[in-house]
Amino acid sequence: MLTSSRAGRSILAWVVWCTASLVAAQQGDNEGIASTGGTNWSLKGGDFNGQHYSPLAQVNAANVDRLGLAWAADLPIPDGVATTPIVIDGVVYLSGAFSIALAIDAVSGRILWSYDPAVREAIAARPNLFWLARAQRGLAVRDGKVFLTTADCRLIALDAAKGTRLWSRQTCDNDLGYFITDSPYVGGGKVFVGNGGSESKLKGRGYVSAYSADGDLLWRFYIVPSDNPEENDTPALKMAARTWSGGTLARHGGGGHNWNEMTYDPASNQLFFGTSGAYPYLHAERSPLGGDNLFLSSIVAVDADTGEYQWHYQTVDKDSWDYNATMNIVLADLMIRDEARETLLIAPKNGFHYTLDRHSGELLAVGKFAKTNWATDIDIETGKPVYDPAGEFWNEAEGEQFTWPNVWGAHGWNPMAFHPGHALSYIPVVDAPTDRGGEEIVMVTEVDGKPHAPGKLVAMDPVNGRIRWSVHRDLPFNGGLLTTGGDLVFQGAASGRFEAFAAGTGERLWSVQTGSAINAAPASYSIDGVQYVLIPIGAGGGLQFQYPQMHSAEASKGLTRLLAFTLGGDAQLTTDDAVDTPLPDQPKLVASQEVIALGAAVYDGACKYCHGSNAVARFGGSVPDLRYADAKTHAQWDAIVIGGSRRTNGMPRMELTAEQSAAVRSYVLSLSEEIRRSSE
Ligand code: HEC
Repeated sequence: MLTSSRAGRSILAWVVWCTASLVAAQQGDNEGIASTGGTNWSLKGGDFNGQHYSPLAQVNAANVDRLGLAWAADLPIPDGVATTPIVIDGVVYLSGAFSIALAIDAVSGRILWSYDPAVREAIAARPNLFWLARAQRGLAVRDGKVFLTTADCRLIALDAAKGTRLWSRQTCDNDLGYFITDSPYVGGGKVFVGNGGSESKLKGRGYVSAYSADGDLLWRFYIVPSDNPEENDTPALKMAARTWSGGTLARHGGGGHNWNEMTYDPASNQLFFGTSGAYPYLHAERSPLGGDNLFLSSIVAVDADTGEYQWHYQTVDKDSWDYNATMNIVLADLMIRDEARETLLIAPKNGFHYTLDRHSGELLAVGKFAKTNWATDIDIETGKPVYDPAGEFWNEAEGEQFTWPNVWGAHGWNPMAFHPGHALSYIPVVDAPTDRGGEEIVMVTEVDGKPHAPGKLVAMDPVNGRIRWSVHRDLPFNGGLLTTGGDLVFQGAASGRFEAFAAGTGERLWSVQTGSAINAAPASYSIDGVQYVLIPIGAGGGLQFQYPQMHSAEASKGLTRLLAFTLGGDAQLTTDDAVDTPLPDQPKLVASQEVIALGAAVYDGACKYCHGSNAVARFGGSVPDLRYADAKTHAQWDAIVIGGSRRTNGMPRMELTAEQSAAVRSYVLSLSEEIRRSSE
């Protein structure tokens, strides 16, 4: 059951995964990159510009219909892959759920080595991390070393040739609410790493760390000030401290974490990173006497050698919507009002695409890529939002209260791309509101009886802030983007389709059903004169574990694979091995509707974020689909759920009464009954 009805409209009952309750429960030479002309894909963003652009043009708008599978590699990462692969000198490097890292031959698809940092074992006692550990988003490779992070806050260096561990550093502390889901970033001989935890009530302050390639900590930049004035020991922290009020830092910590994406610029030796909001989300609670709360929801530039603050641009100075600015940062050279400018582009959660001067942070151009009702515009002179009272959900006493964009953002962690020839940004957009009127924040997929298009691929002109073209997507959360010198934009979709569009017009030129839902972004490289287009399939990232039904039913059952396409590639794309598991023999359901309803409520509060809403789980992943539990499992139910007998496998001991546990079991059996009935 995908939709439920409430007050005359349909909603997907998608509750915010990142609720506070969940967390409480628990190459320095311009670096030799430009010269490779697209041979390699050496960083997640392609090269140091982070444009997700390949200059390769062998595959192009005129011949893309001849694109076919060259090879497919089955990846030993059952919980999926969310990252953009990296390709250096004939080797593909990527990682996925539980930070399992792989090296793969880029011509044959043969796995060369795999490395498993034993994350499951490391987090056995921390069920909240089990979920985050599956949201892992990639790795970095530089000068013969692979750099990898883990949910339990380790930064690990591997020998890129052998996959053996060189060193490991603890870069944050789970006990203070920190975790890591993103990759590290590299440049200037250094490794940069951020962390997550903004919703934590454990008072962690977000920070970015820089390490040498040998694992020495070089500097640390704190994104929010401390409540202890002595710790605000830099001019930037002193400035930030003056923008908080009411003593809330001591109580709540401050957040601001860089949980996703950074861009290193070798030309200026600057590191750019975006920051998140903080808990509590309401500005009035967080900073009751006003203040801009630096450096929340900002883009920050620091000196990459010292970590010294250079400039910041704050996207939302009174953030109450959790509109993080941690989306990928693109460096682009643009003509703006007849002047050549070195710009930085970002499309944060909040629905506006920003064009900033990358040396000063000055706002040069801005425009909406999605519907917004929290702000009508961004003032180009002051750079500040023009707030819209329609978005003040906290003033609404009763009833529905839509806020656009939704709480996961009009653009999430799936990277946008930029085509330097067209001077266009391409953004994977989730153009749907959330309703904050009820007890739960839910994403709305129908408004006034009409389906509201939840997903889009939008081409945006970063010079004038206008949308050039837009393509409808049936499902909201689709993969990140690649654009190429062949005048193409590639995207994998939640439906399992991998597609190419004309970069100038958005016309769909090529489409293939891969059989697995896609959240990752493509990459492109060439070897021996052959251009490859690479896409990891088998959805990774966080949300699909909680909401597998955000993918089409078939695609959510697809395996985790890496596919490489070339012109005339003629390997067979097998999509038919998604197993249709029959229901096993199960005990009979004997429970009243009231008990089942109680079970559903307990399930939504305690089980959903791992086992999936409506108990639909990621097929083939490490969390079983409870609707298919057999009689033996049902017989051991309380031992597993209350007794914690599967604790070491990531199934926590739940604090439930026997009555609640039985109610959940009845609810799950009622869902099994639905499957049985629908297959009759
Ligand atoms: C932190 C994530 C997490 C949460 C929360 C969670 N589970 Fe699990 N659960 C798992 C994992 C992982 C397994 C697989 C364990 C294994 O492989 O032995 C599992 C297994 C199970 C099993 C055994 C299923 C089988 O077919 O073997 C049952 C029953 C179960 N969980 C019930 C629940 C219930 C009921 C709740 C909520 C009250 C819940 N779980 C909450 C992660 C979770």
